[in-house]
Amino acid sequence: MNNNLLLEFLSEKYISLINNHQLFNLIKNIAISCKKISSILDKGNLNDIFGKNNKINVQGETQTKLDIIANDIIIHENNCIGSLSGLASEEMEAFYKIPDNYKTGDYLLLFDPLDGSSNIDVNISVGTIFSILKINRKINNKEIIINDFLQPGIKQIAAGYAIYGPQTNFVISLGKGVHNFTLNKETSEWILTNEFMKIPKYTNEFSINSSNSRYWDKCIYNYVQDCLKGSDGPLSKNYNMRWTGSMVADVHRIMTRGGIFLYPWDSRNPSIPGKLRLMYEANPMGFLVEQSGGIASNGSKRILEIVPKELHQRTSVILGSSDEVSKLLISYINTY
Ligand code: AHG
Repeated sequence: MNNNLLLEFLSEKYISLINNHQLFNLIKNIAISCKKISSILDKGNLNDIFGKNNKINVQGETQTKLDIIANDIIIHENNCIGSLSGLASEEMEAFYKIPDNYKTGDYLLLFDPLDGSSNIDVNISVGTIFSILKINRKINNKEIIINDFLQPGIKQIAAGYAIYGPQTNFVISLGKGVHNFTLNKETSEWILTNEFMKIPKYTNEFSINSSNSRYWDKCIYNYVQDCLKGSDGPLSKNYNMRWTGSMVADVHRIMTRGGIFLYPWDSRNPSIPGKLRLMYEANPMGFLVEQSGGIASNGSKRILEIVPKELHQRTSVILGSSDEVSKLLISYINTY
């Protein structure tokens, strides 16, 4: 195994990063935030951190104590480094503007501080997802506005996630491939363990919460039925199924060994396009999946081309191994 460290490796691979102190520092501090969150999670309820916070977030979901702790860590570690003009989080209703007494920078950080947080109490992997955008206009007096954040996913400068599981990994792309680093908890260093992650084109593993099957549209319903028929059905192969309830864990599995992940629109709440958040979950994961050779779609459109209308916009998500996702997308084209 090599001993490539996160920042050294990225600076060597992406020469422009060495001269871009703002972006370099931002990645450095996001990685520090993830180490801190990891170390808090390691102690579990020894720190009395499990359970609800008794507040409902902007998504209408009950926050856990750890949602708030992770959110505060990311803001605290990144707001005074001079790289950002604002942050937006799944856990905060409005975006966070860098306080007047701090230096501002050219970038915006969007994040889900603790994805899959309902899994914490039962010791299943959770994660932090982030997306970095650049402000695409000249701004005076630090006056960022909501429109600065509302950029489609193709505009992401970098995106990634940390997964807190049996190991803690930091997976990042700056737009030229995806790299995976593992936290050595003895030395507190992120060590490169997978350069240029590649999602296998073919898969026989699907990932969906099938308790919602009666609410799915007919394309999703028929596709999953075909998977269940296995080698006796039209897909002519047997499938395996996995669903953790943490997008980070399900996507990390797909990034590592392939698969298809689906959280589609369903008729439980027909006016909402899906459960997952475009800016904090679908865009960063879509960026990573495409950078690893996979496909990320909402059924009718590439996720990264969706032009957001609001910060907390939701979307349907179908992503993973290119051959498998393509098969399903063809049935969408033929049906609608
Ligand atoms: P949250 O960030 O609020 O914990 O939501 C988790 C997300 C995502 O990580 C996961 O794929 C999905 O919600 C699971 O939803 P279901 O419980 O509906 O299966």
